Amino acid sequence: MSKIIVNKQDKKSTINKNIYGNFSEHLGRCIYNGIYVGEDSSIPNVNGMRTDVVEALRHIKLPVLRWPGGCFADEYHWKDGIGPKESRKRMVNTTWGGVVEDNSFGTHEFMEFCRQVGCEPYINGNVGSGTVQEMSEWVEYMTFDGESPMANLRRENGQDEPWKLKYICVGNESWGCGGNMRPEYYADLYRHYQTFLRNYGDNKLYKIAGGPSNDDYQWTDTLMKMAGKYMDALTLHYYTVPGNDWQHKGSATEFTQEDYYITLRKANFMDEIITKHAQIMDRYDPEHKVSLLVDEWGTWFDVEPGTNPGFLYQQNTMRDAMVAALSLNIFNRHSDRVAMANIAQLCNVLQAVVLTEGDKMVLTPTYHVFDLYKDHQDATLLGAFVEEGQAGEGENTIPMLSVSASEDKDGVVHVTAANLSATQSCPVELDLLGGQMGTVTGKILTGSMDAYNDFDTPNTVSIQPMEGITVENGQARFTLPACSVVEITLA
Ligand code: AHR
Repeated sequence: MSKIIVNKQDKKSTINKNIYGNFSEHLGRCIYNGIYVGEDSSIPNVNGMRTDVVEALRHIKLPVLRWPGGCFADEYHWKDGIGPKESRKRMVNTTWGGVVEDNSFGTHEFMEFCRQVGCEPYINGNVGSGTVQEMSEWVEYMTFDGESPMANLRRENGQDEPWKLKYICVGNESWGCGGNMRPEYYADLYRHYQTFLRNYGDNKLYKIAGGPSNDDYQWTDTLMKMAGKYMDALTLHYYTVPGNDWQHKGSATEFTQEDYYITLRKANFMDEIITKHAQIMDRYDPEHKVSLLVDEWGTWFDVEPGTNPGFLYQQNTMRDAMVAALSLNIFNRHSDRVAMANIAQLCNVLQAVVLTEGDKMVLTPTYHVFDLYKDHQDATLLGAFVEEGQAGEGENTIPMLSVSASEDKDGVVHVTAANLSATQSCPVELDLLGGQMGTVTGKILTGSMDAYNDFDTPNTVSIQPMEGITVENGQARFTLPACSVVEITLA
């Protein structure tokens, strides 16, 4: 019997709703086909945006969306994507598949998509092949209300009112595809660029510096030391890649039990790297003025056989759902420092929440985890103690349970738990300290580790009401089947 003890009096940080954010890039079929089909498409759309995708994202309360990349951000020139569509510049997307990018989805379209979904825009500016002037003018174009060359241009292009823009990042992966820079050089560039990102009227920017990859603690240290006082946040990118190298990442759907545990062990490494980056940040910023945004995370497997290798299209199984459940619990527990996370990516790329093919759309197991966890958005993290067994074998042994708990604004407690074992069910006793347990209900997502939803069978994996919860003497008891994710609500 495992134990979860939640303490309603042990109120910790607010779980920023932006931890449930997403990422969209001009990569493969993420934007074109995935989000945007154009107004003349026979696929139901509003102003070119797929209605099915918009509705699915509204349902999980997507709070924030990052765009236009990724590596693409550092070759994106925003002026190519405004004005009449027929005269927009056509370019080659050299990073992703060498396909023609016709720029029919640009700033206006991105803002329209965010409006329809009801999420906040997060813009990633171009440092790698852009200029200070270009990034500065983009902010002016989007947010200036008065008379100015860029604000006038925006009006000419049909948008009278400025948009609200908070989140802007200066470059992407500047240590890699964004320019192969050293941290000292990037820190200086960051200080320079951010100087010219202006707050117009009551629009207040939240300035984000491009942070480290994985466990590159040197990058974090240098950036905090040299530029910490000029930023609201820095980013962290960490992908879960089960294979030993980038040529052999492993199949998304055909894998062994050992591959499953390797994947979860690697996903669990997120906890260690956040802890260590946060310790470095604590040294320079004990008051927690600078947040950590994990603005790229998720599984990265070999592309689906027969698809363009540059498009990064992969299927999504219960294994992905377990990675999502584990990672989101980690972010919740680190919400004193982690203020945003953006899974990569929204649609048809890497660990997508939705997949599309023509007019069909599938909700992935990962989507359902975001659905199960959405009650944590802006809730208060509660202290939780877990007594559990282990899953996996040898060096791939991991804790069997992953848990986080929060209290929402109505005083309702939500506990999300994943049984990471691929084979063993887990009986659980749940205690609530400092409050009444009340009515206990649950929702569950479960299936074999390689179960997935496809266009012909879209509901193989879906959320179900949880049966068999008993409450006695103020304790709830239930069993988590192998490879399952649950949300337990104590109302
Ligand atoms: O998400 C795919 C790519 O991964 C992004 O473009 C880049 O930032 C990262 O390396």
